[in-house]
Amino acid sequence: MCGIIGILGRTPVAPQMVDALKRLEYRGYDSAGVATLEHGHLTRRRAEGKLKNLEHRLDGEPLAGTIGIGHTRWATHGRPNETNAHPHAGRRVAVVHNGIIENFNELRRELEGHGARFATETDTEVVAHLVDHLMSTGLGPVEAVKAALPRLRGAFALGFIFEGEEDLMIGARRGSPLAVGYGQGEMYLGSDAIALAPFTSTISYLEDGDWVVLKRGGLQVYDEDGAPVNRPVMKSSASAFLVDKGNYRHFMSKEIHEQPEVVGHTLAHYIDFAAERVVLPDLPFDFTSLQRVTIAACGTAYYAGLTGKYWFERFARLPVEVEIASELRYGDAPFAPGNLAIFVSQSGETADTLATLRHAKANGQHVVSVVNVATSTIARESDVVMPTLAGPEIGVASTKAFTCQLTVLACIAIAAGRARGNLSEEDERRLVRALVEVPRHMTAALALEPEVEKLARDIAKSRDVLYLGRGTSFPLALEGALKLKEISYIHAEGYAAGELKHGPIALIDETMPVIVIAPHDRVFEKTVSNMQEVAARGGKIILLTDPQGAAEATVDSLATLVLPHMPASVTPMVYAVPVQMLAYHAAVIMGTDVDQPRNLAKSVTVE
Ligand code: G6P
Repeated sequence: MCGIIGILGRTPVAPQMVDALKRLEYRGYDSAGVATLEHGHLTRRRAEGKLKNLEHRLDGEPLAGTIGIGHTRWATHGRPNETNAHPHAGRRVAVVHNGIIENFNELRRELEGHGARFATETDTEVVAHLVDHLMSTGLGPVEAVKAALPRLRGAFALGFIFEGEEDLMIGARRGSPLAVGYGQGEMYLGSDAIALAPFTSTISYLEDGDWVVLKRGGLQVYDEDGAPVNRPVMKSSASAFLVDKGNYRHFMSKEIHEQPEVVGHTLAHYIDFAAERVVLPDLPFDFTSLQRVTIAACGTAYYAGLTGKYWFERFARLPVEVEIASELRYGDAPFAPGNLAIFVSQSGETADTLATLRHAKANGQHVVSVVNVATSTIARESDVVMPTLAGPEIGVASTKAFTCQLTVLACIAIAAGRARGNLSEEDERRLVRALVEVPRHMTAALALEPEVEKLARDIAKSRDVLYLGRGTSFPLALEGALKLKEISYIHAEGYAAGELKHGPIALIDETMPVIVIAPHDRVFEKTVSNMQEVAARGGKIILLTDPQGAAEATVDSLATLVLPHMPASVTPMVYAVPVQMLAYHAAVIMGTDVDQPRNLAKSVTVE
């Protein structure tokens, strides 16, 4: 996963940048590079593979500049070779980038029309050419970046330096993290406090949408609208430990906010962005020969599996059984040999999931695991590992691992749909385009946090809470209820909205919040009918929907959280964000131990 460093220094900065990049190695990468100004001219050194290759290049051809940007690249758009390594450069600007520029194809065509010549397969290069183009119309570097940022769609962090500008660096953050560090007559930019630790422990984290103009003597941060803002300056403790809470009060909050970035990374692993196709690793079976898929998992991972069922059945017309691992393990479910069993696990160590994996293997199933810890036992014992790239998840209650699991399952289901001839090439493109936009929609969902926090005050006063959803929103209702129970200790239940009248409706009175997850999809009207039933009995409805849903829901609700409009295929990933934030804020209000709730463990290695 890409790492960014920028230094406005007083001595040659290339060796310092390499040092900082080493501290970002933990994020994973496959090429690296640095750019500095040599007598005012942009000069780069880049290398495929590990940082030692870059160090060799720099030994042979040292760089003397005292201002520079550096990058470890984890390939998304284009192969991991030297040409595609960052920094990328136009005539007047060099840029490093972490994240995805969704509209790069469109911008590339536009800029080629203005005469830009592209040298790489990356999405990043459009940023360099866009800023270059804007500068050629007479704008200065700061104005050019300011004008370029609103043209970029996606979730990303960027660092820029400019030809002839020895005392100017610009950073920008939308979705992906970026921090600034304060030194003695020096300033720094970095993906996290860990990168900056050797230079300074005095840092500020940029907020989403911020961009920053750095000079050796100081900095100015601007918000998305271009208004100057101050961000808190803090002391980081990153030097000692890799995992740091950053600006967040709890790991869980940090992990919720990391989702646009880590889902972006996970997508990059399974999607060819230029071709708009899903690309899976080599499989020892053919989707066309499968009669059935079994998905087994525990806890939150089980709910990811339940969501996956809807996608497999819709995209690939493949029947799916989703099983709680501890039940499948001792049940008598017959397995027809040669079918597929998928095991979903953050830790890759959950005892019940591992036992079912062995059981399925013994019964002739092809074993695929969707795991976050690549070195785990479940990963090692699988025929094929499909990693989630959520990074270390510290909070016991799973958040970012869940949305990454959904991302991988959606990709597998699309690939299966294509292989089985149920999805056309155009269907695949459409579904892939929807996935690529998920990080951006998640960023928009995160912006609802102040509203969610207010609603959490009502939730925190309740004894019981009901979550309702239909279709893919049903597993999310189950996950929402689980999240709330786990960390706030408030009793909650998730129900399929259509099941309301078969029992839970008896519980509804004026004290009962009912959280309805209802994007405007093909079952929206049905869910609205269920909401009417709740409203008629005085239940307090909190509706999660989109602008069209909000306009059409004719029910008196306590509150409506309006998410962006998006294709129905991706709503579970994005709607997970407010659901998680609601549980988080309710728990904070209740004063519980959010990251380590009582009685729960992150990795459950007992039955
Ligand atoms: C524990 C965790 C949950 C997790 C479940 C399954 O209960 O607290 O957050 O969903 O285990 O864990 P796994 O590592 O297999 O995903």
